[in-house]
Amino acid sequence: MKKFRRIGVLTSGGDAPGMNAAIRAVTRTAIAHGVEVMGIYRGYSGLIDGDIKQLGIRDVSNCINHGGTMLYSDRCPEFKTEAGMAKAVETCRRLEIDGIVAIGGDGTFRGALELSRLGVSVVGIPATIDNDVGCTNYTIGFDSACNTAIECIDKLRDTMQSHERCSVVEVMGRNAGFLALYVGIAAGASAVLVPERPVDFEKDVVERIRNSRLAGNTHFMIVVAEGAGSAVEIGKKIEEAIGIQPRVTVLGHIQRGGSPSARDRETATRMGYTAVNALAEGRFNCIVATQEGSIEEIPIEEALKMKKNLQMDRYRIMETMQLGNKLSLTDDY
Ligand code: ADP
Ligand code: F6P
Repeated sequence: MKKFRRIGVLTSGGDAPGMNAAIRAVTRTAIAHGVEVMGIYRGYSGLIDGDIKQLGIRDVSNCINHGGTMLYSDRCPEFKTEAGMAKAVETCRRLEIDGIVAIGGDGTFRGALELSRLGVSVVGIPATIDNDVGCTNYTIGFDSACNTAIECIDKLRDTMQSHERCSVVEVMGRNAGFLALYVGIAAGASAVLVPERPVDFEKDVVERIRNSRLAGNTHFMIVVAEGAGSAVEIGKKIEEAIGIQPRVTVLGHIQRGGSPSARDRETATRMGYTAVNALAEGRFNCIVATQEGSIEEIPIEEALKMKKNLQMDRYRIMETMQLGNKLSLTDDY
């Protein structure tokens, strides 16, 4: 069985609340196994540049409640090149790092897979507010981002209600609508637009506002995932079609920050613990993933092939909650 003496931990891609809790869990679990932990700064950039410091048990104190990542994060195009990858492998060899825990999303895991092909053992921990990693039900940061978005939307709703206005809110999600759909259901949106479902503006927006109005509603909340279109453009189109003047809010990076929720801290801690236990027990080149609540280890190559569809049954639930909406069982989801 491969015995690990020193491992590295890094955060890469878009940051997510709960990454610190994962770093803390990796560090403390490794030290409990008698394994040294090296903190790699700025994701794969730190591995290329050798920007790496040892983490002790106290170095991760007082971070569990903070958003962002104490190791910083980066997008590192150089790591996708042969030369960049070779430098990263050389850093591991020089510093005698024989395993890496990579915390991030799909891109981070594609990088980890390449590293594993060059002989560096890896374990991935899924963390992204988009929740768009195929092999896992849940990614660290999603719950915190949803709660942040809902807190903002509730505030918007107060003022939209007072002025009997329409609000168009853009949430994050370049390629995935998990955040938009979840937030849309929880905030009672009049319409939700997601990248996974082609937008029929007349049916998905105009008709919904009209129906809601006919049912007696005087304020409307439209939630748009950034990958489904620009909230500004949608606002303009609503004005042209209906003659009301929506107020547009782009929530942006606010959703990526803030103190992580209890769910994110707890999940991150369990994932960090599971990741290091896997290494300590000689299992690696996998991603720790939540499946129906328990945490599984899925081989990285298989994990990257797994697809997760947006739950269209939830889309239907969201629509059913909208005022004046008539369900048609023949609607195609
Ligand atoms: P996320 O991990 O959140 O999906 P990115 O897609 O931005 O974020 O990926 C993070 C980093 O992972 C990239 O900047 C790059 O350094 C590395 N990476 C992504 N895809 C690959 C790949 N195919 N090969 C090697 N490294 C990759
Ligand atoms: O973390 C994922 C994500 O929030 C996407 O939804 C979004 O499109 C992207 O990151 C934006 O990230 P950045 O501004 O850091 O490039």
